[in-house]
Amino acid sequence: MSHGPSAPGVAASAHAHDAPYEPVFTPGSARSKELADLITRYPDKRAALLPALWMVQNDRGWISEAAMMEVGDQLGCTAAYVKGVVTFYTMYHQHPVGKHFIQVCTTSPCLCAGADKVVEAFLEHTGCKELGLTSADGRYTVIEVECLGACGFATPVQINEDYVENVTPEKVPEILAGLP
Ligand code: FES
Repeated sequence: MSHGPSAPGVAASAHAHDAPYEPVFTPGSARSKELADLITRYPDKRAALLPALWMVQNDRGWISEAAMMEVGDQLGCTAAYVKGVVTFYTMYHQHPVGKHFIQVCTTSPCLCAGADKVVEAFLEHTGCKELGLTSADGRYTVIEVECLGACGFATPVQINEDYVENVTPEKVPEILAGLP
């Protein structure tokens, strides 16, 4: 069960919702060339959908409805098709998230090892009021996720691209203090 990516952010993120969408794959841009190169590797350009979405998320921080339309236009598929993929994978953000996207495994083995207390500690020390909401300073979003594949190192936490293993509630303040 995951809660975060489809949950709305707080006021700190509202601007990102309201701002006009800035296309990623503008003609002549580096991203446009990157996507064009990628498409040549596949018999069907829709096969480039996942990496195209990563490019958008890397550049814009999340994938808006307008971004889904842009990607659909680029790859010859409908925005609804793109949305089906975006909503399937929890790694894609459907709303703005904090600078540090914190994913705590709460699947049964980690839950038995106290993952729920780790979640509580992250919520308390980040100032995030709820799972999936972004802290007022825009730095943090905390969500629960299914197995992170590190069951022997409960509780594992993924912060952006990095894994932190054997996390306990007591370690949370130090982990947060070490983030840029
Ligand atoms: S159950 Fe938590 S990492 Fe596998």
